[in-house]
Amino acid sequence: MKNLPFSNLKLLLLGSGELGKELVIEAKRLGCEVIAVDKYENAPAMQVADKHFVLDMSNKKLLMDLINSLQPDFVIPEIESLSIEALKDLENNGMNIVPNSRTVEMTMNRDKIRDLASNDLNIRTAKYRYVYDLSKLEYNSSEIGFPLLLKPLMSSSGKGQNLVQKKDDLEKAWILALENSRGDVKGVILEEYIDFNYEFTLLSVRTKEGQTIFCPPIGHEQYKGDYQCSWQPIPIEKSILEEAKQVTKIILDNLNGAGIYGVEFFVKESNLIFSELSPRPHDTGMVTLLSQNINEFELHLRALLDLPIPEINLISPAATRVILSEDEHLKFAFYGIHEALKIKNSKILIFGKPFAKKGRRMGVAIATGLDIEQARLRADQCASNIKISSSD
Ligand SMILES: Nc1ncnc2c1ncn2[C@@H]1O[C@H](COP(=O)(O)OP(=O)(O)O)[C@@H](O)[C@H]1O
Ligand SMILES: [Mg+2]
Repeated sequence: MKNLPFSNLKLLLLGSGELGKELVIEAKRLGCEVIAVDKYENAPAMQVADKHFVLDMSNKKLLMDLINSLQPDFVIPEIESLSIEALKDLENNGMNIVPNSRTVEMTMNRDKIRDLASNDLNIRTAKYRYVYDLSKLEYNSSEIGFPLLLKPLMSSSGKGQNLVQKKDDLEKAWILALENSRGDVKGVILEEYIDFNYEFTLLSVRTKEGQTIFCPPIGHEQYKGDYQCSWQPIPIEKSILEEAKQVTKIILDNLNGAGIYGVEFFVKESNLIFSELSPRPHDTGMVTLLSQNINEFELHLRALLDLPIPEINLISPAATRVILSEDEHLKFAFYGIHEALKIKNSKILIFGKPFAKKGRRMGVAIATGLDIEQARLRADQCASNIKISSSD
């Protein structure tokens, strides 16, 4: 039996978005001190953390200096755009990077994790090619075939991702992708377009002992690569779910770091296709705030802090629907909250982002129901009541 003292743990969160905010809330419930970092003031997680810093975390020196001066017990990345050199150096000197610096590096851009899955671990993925030079775009596209998806090697939430129907549209998509690429990676991935029947996230927890525990699968829908709604559980053929668990275990055994992982799959005609993985709570997994006995944020913490996870249970079917801003606003208010919360078993998270941009995710509605249909309907009704407008 472990009976280690558990006090005064200092967590440093790199990235302070809405997922980080929920992580901080759970960490505070466990009595930890949390310091939140992002590149702009007043980011969501900063609003609930003990302390915060505004910093360009892709700058090696700045990031090293900050971490060295704070000496946290754990460094928890919440975003991809970080100086990996800083994290590796720190880890070599004994710092705990969650889940570990190699995994952060493998999942930072789209290429390393894809190569690991497809080439080293023999896991089925969409056909893909990397292109770093416009002159090679056409040839590589013809190898994939149309339609194809062209994505920046480094991006998230569908930014810079475009469906390309024909050769003539390649260059425009290339320019858009590079404009929306994060970090200094100047390349794109071309992916075979999978006309899937459905997609899902398998939230999976790896413990310090190397055990993998799975959450019930989460269904979701995306628009232009950005998450719109999710629901848990999604009914999946038993053999496909088993295969997804096996594939996940193979990947997590390789990555070998404790924490939660959002593992994304497509299903097309009973074929399972691995898409991508993030070593942290997943946006589609916000549904677990109402659906599970232990939500994805607390699961991440329990795993990295080596606390027990006796079992993961579904308490109720539940669903989410995002609340997006339709415009850009510097000063704004949320309207319709009263109507929204009249929906039974619903809950609203307002992320607290300091400014609104067109299409920016500003909140989420979550609801439970007797079945998935009822939960989805409630989450949709709840979100549809809420509008963001200027308050000047
Ligand atoms: N090869 C593909 N075929 C069909 N749809 C895809 C493909 N790749 C991505 N998508 C769609 O775009 C969404 C976002 O893509 P993803 O690669 O997960 O990017 P991100 O890192 O921005 O989440 C996916 O959840 C899926 O709906
Ligand atoms: Mg994704």
